[in-house]
Formats: sequence, structure tokens, C-alpha cells
Amino acid sequence: PLVSMRQLLDHAAEHGYGVPAFNVNNMEQVKAIMEAAAETDSPVILQASAGARKYAGEPFLRHLILAAAEAYPQIPVCMHQDHGTSPAVNIRAIQSAFSSVMMDGSLLEDGKTPSDWDYNVAVTRKVVDLAHACGVSVEGELGCLGSLETGMAGEEDGIGAEGKLDHSKLLTDPDEAAEFVKLTKVDALAIAIGTSHGAYKFTRPPTGDVLAISRIKEIHARIPNTHLVMHGSSSVPQDWLKIINENGGDLGETYGVPVAEIVEGIKHGVRKVNIDTDLRMAATGSIRKYMAENPKKFDPRDYLKPAMAGMKGICKARYEAFGTAGNA
Ligand code: G3H
Ligand code: 13P
Ligand code: ZN
Repeated sequence: PLVSMRQLLDHAAEHGYGVPAFNVNNMEQVKAIMEAAAETDSPVILQASAGARKYAGEPFLRHLILAAAEAYPQIPVCMHQDHGTSPAVNIRAIQSAFSSVMMDGSLLEDGKTPSDWDYNVAVTRKVVDLAHACGVSVEGELGCLGSLETGMAGEEDGIGAEGKLDHSKLLTDPDEAAEFVKLTKVDALAIAIGTSHGAYKFTRPPTGDVLAISRIKEIHARIPNTHLVMHGSSSVPQDWLKIINENGGDLGETYGVPVAEIVEGIKHGVRKVNIDTDLRMAATGSIRKYMAENPKKFDPRDYLKPAMAGMKGICKARYEAFGTAGNA
């Protein structure tokens, strides 16, 4: 069945686990995630970005997610709008059956320019009022996602601030978080604690303290009833990076957020963990390898099957590591 994010994350908080929220754009991603969830008995958050709307179109996204819920009646599924950058986008999502939305007021509607406090509070409060009246939960965002190492938001064409970020915005302030939640009544809050979107998060192998875990603890202590959301949570698996680079790809050397750091965050209030890049890498690595080894094949099903298997492997590993498994 379709459920709201609040329902899923309240259960996660009560039992101390986290739920990965995977971005979806097509059927293969949806199927890979659902197969992994069914095999591990995990609740699911499927989220669609503005880019996904542009790529697949809203009817296809909606029906793909509804198909997932229909095909797996035993698995609770949340249909979430990722990074809605205006009330209008989120209202459209609510109208078309999404059970959860994100009003990302940390950036202006262009998805690139950092906003100010008053703007963020006003747009987020407006969406919460409307969404709650419809039984839909809301995620807000405070602070600007960016790597503490590079000061950059990452992600060239997706969502993220342009240029080098002001260091004070890279870590969400706990007092401001408490005030923001009080004023807006969001169900969940995306916080800036050192992650960034995309494949280029860190230039050196992470040492084990790449995230500001102490800041997560401080924020959680101030807003214990608001679920914390970690964006930019891909781990940039080195095995997939190698497969891509050995089969004609050229992603260079790059590192993501270690799974162990995310697990540490989950111990301190992180409940929703956004992952897109890792599934993109598993799909691309699988397809590159398949194409290199099977030059005579041309049926898309032949190479999309290994792509699904690669993505499914990542999903299962995250469901198990985050403690989601067994909680459907
Ligand atoms: O927020 C970033 C997600 O990875 C979505 O990316 O806008 O390219 O679909 P996208
Ligand atoms: P990654 O690019 O690290 O997968 O982050 C995805 C994300 O935060 C989507 O909102
Ligand atoms: Zn994000």
C-alpha cells in the first residue's frame, strides 16, 4: 500500500533504523528497488526529482510507483517528491497522489541560488499547511548541501548551489533548526552536515570522519520528534567505479560517504537516507561491462537485466546496513 513518509519514519524512529530513499526515473530502477525490498522485507521510499519529471513525465512516474505498490502488496511504499523547489511543484505532486513531498526552500526556484530565512520559512509553511490537510507529509531543508572538503555543492546539472559556498551554510545550525521546525511544522528536515550531491564528493579516501556527526547529535537533541534526512548519501562504490573506468568510462578518482558513517548518523536521528548516484553507477558499470563482453547483443533487455541486478545488489546492501530489513 501507499503510505506517507511520516508513517514509515515514525516506525523507523521507534525501532532505531533508517530508510534509504532511492531516486527513480524508469521501470528498471523501480523493479530493482522493489525486488531488493521484497527479499529483505523492507519498507520503501521511491522518490522522483524535477529531473525525473522532465525525463519520464509525471504520469509515467506515478504509474510506475503505483505499479510497484500493486505488485508488492506486502511492502509499504512512500511516493515522495524529491527537491520540490516551489509550492507549485509540490501542490502538483499532492494532486497526483504523491504521499509525501519535499519543499526545498533552502534554494530559490532555480534550484541553484541559496535563499534567505524568511523565504524558506514562508514557502515551507505554506506547503505544510496544504499537505497536512491532505494527509501528505513534508520534508524541508535548512542549510546548503556542500562538501566540507571542497566547499562545493557538487552536481553540475541537478539541484545544488552554484560556486563555492559560504562556510556557515555548510552546517545546519541547531538553534535555527529548532526555530524552523517550530515555525513550519515539517515532518522531516534535511540538514547540511558535509554531504553533497553527485559522484564527486571527496577527492581523497574518506578517513572515517567526513560527516559532522557531532552536529547531527546536537540537532537531534533539539528536535527529537523531527526525522532527520541525509541527502547526498551515495557511497560511490569503488568496485563499480573500477568497472566503469575499466570498460570505457572516465569518471576518474572520487569518493563518497562511507556506509559506516551513515550508520553512525542513523544512531543519532537520521531516518531518511537519499541515494541516487550509487544506483546510477551500478547501472552504468553493468551495462558498460555487458556491452564490452557481448558486442553482438542488441536487445535492450539483455543489458538492462544485469543493470537491474547491479542496482538491486546496492539496494539490498543498504537495506541490511541501515537496519531497514525485516521492518516491512
Ligand atoms: O537531488 C539530486 C538527485 O540525485 C536527483 O538528480 O535532478 O538529475 O534527477 P536529478
Ligand atoms: P547522491 O547523489 O549522493 O546519490 O544523493 C541523492 C540525493 O540526495 C537525492 O535527493
Ligand atoms: Zn538531495
